[in-house]
Amino acid sequence: MSDRIQGLHHITLCTGTAQGDVNFFVKTLGLNLVKRTLLYDGKEPVYHLYFSDRLGSPGNLTTTFPWRRTGRKAKSGSGQISLTSYSVPTGSLEWWNENLGKKAVNVLERYERFGQKVLKMEHPDCPALHFELIEDAGDTRAPFDSPYVPKQYAIRGFHSWTVTLRDLEDMHFFMSEGWNHEKVGTDGEFTRYTVNGGGAAKTVDLLLKPDLAPGNWSYGEGMVHHGAFGIPDLDVQEQVKNELEGLGFTDTSDRKHRGYFQSVYVRTPAGALFEAAHTLGFTVDEPEETLGQAFIISPQFESQKEELLRRLNDPIVL
Ligand SMILES: [Fe+2]
Repeated sequence: MSDRIQGLHHITLCTGTAQGDVNFFVKTLGLNLVKRTLLYDGKEPVYHLYFSDRLGSPGNLTTTFPWRRTGRKAKSGSGQISLTSYSVPTGSLEWWNENLGKKAVNVLERYERFGQKVLKMEHPDCPALHFELIEDAGDTRAPFDSPYVPKQYAIRGFHSWTVTLRDLEDMHFFMSEGWNHEKVGTDGEFTRYTVNGGGAAKTVDLLLKPDLAPGNWSYGEGMVHHGAFGIPDLDVQEQVKNELEGLGFTDTSDRKHRGYFQSVYVRTPAGALFEAAHTLGFTVDEPEETLGQAFIISPQFESQKEELLRRLNDPIVL
């Protein structure tokens, strides 16, 4: 077990609408809405929604900012995480293909990567965001018990994320020396890095697109804002930050308290924003039995709760 970066933790996306996210992540992909709160940056309120298994396990945690109401759209391109891939059991992609068709999800492609079967699709409410289901026989994690997806087909958590980039060399140095990952091979335009022996939620692919213009980094509908990796404790987080800066990766943040994590961010040489996250858990502000059912807001905004919900004007029907 690595004593530094341990694997994928959560990914944060700028999407379209709250209901569009619930329809896709809960009612189509079978994840659990484990927390509904706010992004606390900026003047206009924006939801922050968390989709996961029952308790919000690291390695199976997709968070969204439904961004359409701000009117700002993102530009897709290189320098971003371009694919969020989930693992599903071997033999399940036929069921998924049929079910996604019934839910009007556009399946873009079916192919094999590193010998595993892949189904690539669009977010129906935010087509710039692409996701994959990858058959992985080695993933033994228990899925969320969803009423929408039979257990034998259900998502187990992240398989991998893919970073699209224009040049591999500097990112190889970052992944190897700064992020304690190991290069394990290539398959066409994909180069694979793993940590802790690899497998689901311990894999990052780099997709080389030398001629693809950079996408933007700031918030806007249709982009992956950042990918967060788990670290064991705050001492290690400090150590990782110091070592990154020593290697020349000086675009690192101070530690930020994100309510459910303590986070340090780094702009990677590929352009994608990575985070080293220490988990605090989702039961810090509501009971386990009712996770995700209520709108949770920081205590300093409690008096504005009804006004904020009115301004959000983006009701959620589960
Ligand atoms: Fe994050």
